[in-house]
Amino acid sequence: MWKLLHNLKDALLYNADREFYAKVFPDSVKGHDLMRIRRMDHVDLDSVLAIENQNYEFPWSQGVFEDCFQTMTYTNWVCEDADDTIVGYAIISAIVGEAHIMNISVNPQYQGQGVGRKMLNHLIDYARPRAEKIFLEVRPSNLNAIHLYKSSGFKEIGIRKAYYPAKDGREDAIMFELDLVPMLGNYPTP
Ligand SMILES: CC(C)(COP(=O)(O)OP(=O)(O)OC[C@H]1O[C@@H](n2cnc3c(N)ncnc32)[C@H](O)[C@@H]1OP(=O)(O)O)[C@@H](O)C(=O)NCCC(=O)NCCS
Repeated sequence: MWKLLHNLKDALLYNADREFYAKVFPDSVKGHDLMRIRRMDHVDLDSVLAIENQNYEFPWSQGVFEDCFQTMTYTNWVCEDADDTIVGYAIISAIVGEAHIMNISVNPQYQGQGVGRKMLNHLIDYARPRAEKIFLEVRPSNLNAIHLYKSSGFKEIGIRKAYYPAKDGREDAIMFELDLVPMLGNYPTP
């Protein structure tokens, strides 16, 4: 219920209002509230790749991102700040009732400010009418991401052995799942 009320508040509070309040009462609006999520475009790829290369030891190439535009079941998003600077991006696939988060990544300078959680919430909202479950994989060493997923309700469901390339060979992946169907019952009642 709190989540529904929060979404309703978000829908009613227009960006223009947020920008006005941010100017007049700078402490009243959080930075991530001023950020917008929109579909990724080809012209965004330079900014996206710059973030990808900073965040990952084994980054996706431009070709991989271009393939994401060609794949009908993939949806590609960017998050930009009030100055239209791209601060993060996320890619999700949805097919036959299952969604899979393929990538979620925030510019290191903007990490820890709620951008990742905002994008994850957006992906969950996008997936809810299209899928019953969301899956993702994460490196066991990626404690920030694991914290984000667990605190958003994702449950660990298994290990994919030697899934990721690593400096010394391969690294396992922890698989997480979010069950979208019973989630409504999980919200605290006011
Ligand atoms: C994982 C990632 C997407 C999280 O995005 P973010 O914008 O930094 O996360 P948020 O600010 O929304 O914070 C989400 C939670 O993670 C925690 N967290 C995020 N960054 C953190 C940091 N640098 N140190 C400590 N905790 C951190 C926060 O405490 C927060 O939890 P809280 O709301 O309970 O306080 C981001 O760190 C990132 O891009 N990492 C590199 C790419 C990556 O690993 N992607 C995931 C692949 S599976």
